[in-house]
Amino acid sequence: MIRIGVLISGNGSNLQAILDACREGRIPGEVVVVLSDKADAFGLERARRAGVEAIHVDPAAYPTRTAFDAALAELLQAREVDLVCLAGYMRLVRKPMLTAFPDRILNIHPSLLPAFPGLDAQGQALAYGVKVAGCTVHFVTAGMDEGPIILQAAVPVLEDDTHEDLRARIQAEEHRIYPEAVRLFAEGRLRIEGRRVRILSPTAQEGDS
Ligand code: GRF
Repeated sequence: MIRIGVLISGNGSNLQAILDACREGRIPGEVVVVLSDKADAFGLERARRAGVEAIHVDPAAYPTRTAFDAALAELLQAREVDLVCLAGYMRLVRKPMLTAFPDRILNIHPSLLPAFPGLDAQGQALAYGVKVAGCTVHFVTAGMDEGPIILQAAVPVLEDDTHEDLRARIQAEEHRIYPEAVRLFAEGRLRIEGRRVRILSPTAQEGDS
């Protein structure tokens, strides 16, 4: 059973998908703490309802972004977290977090990376006119939305899609692949090889090739 910490800034529907998957035994792990940089993030309420410790960490209380990330890392390490999941967390992760959790931070992004990194990926996809959009779960590195890719799912962009239509269609897939990626991590089945992530079969032992 791995111990999971989740970082959020808002609604927390991906957090909910992970909480549900843990509760239903689809992830061999438990969410032990949820941290938010926003006091009013609904995800904090979701965590409390699930009986999970939920903490607002106010960036304004720290002199620098690095100091803020050091505080996050300390909170997570004090709870012996094995894996950190960014779930709608709207900040770049800095060195203290990357050092504390090497290859142990995941993110979900609402595009088929490397297309449309950054803010409002759905709006970027609509503006560009792509016919296929989707979402990506990836390991977090220092750059924005650019670490090795674990899972992706594609959805069509339909003729009359509004921003909200596309957002909802992508989110349905996010709620499927994020828990799945966390499960693979928890089962020790992800191996990073350069930019690629190899997914080991359930029976493969670490060290097999
Ligand atoms: C998701 O679309 C995710 O891909 C992006 O932020 C959104 C968070 O939604 N990183 P929620 O807070 O999980 O509902």
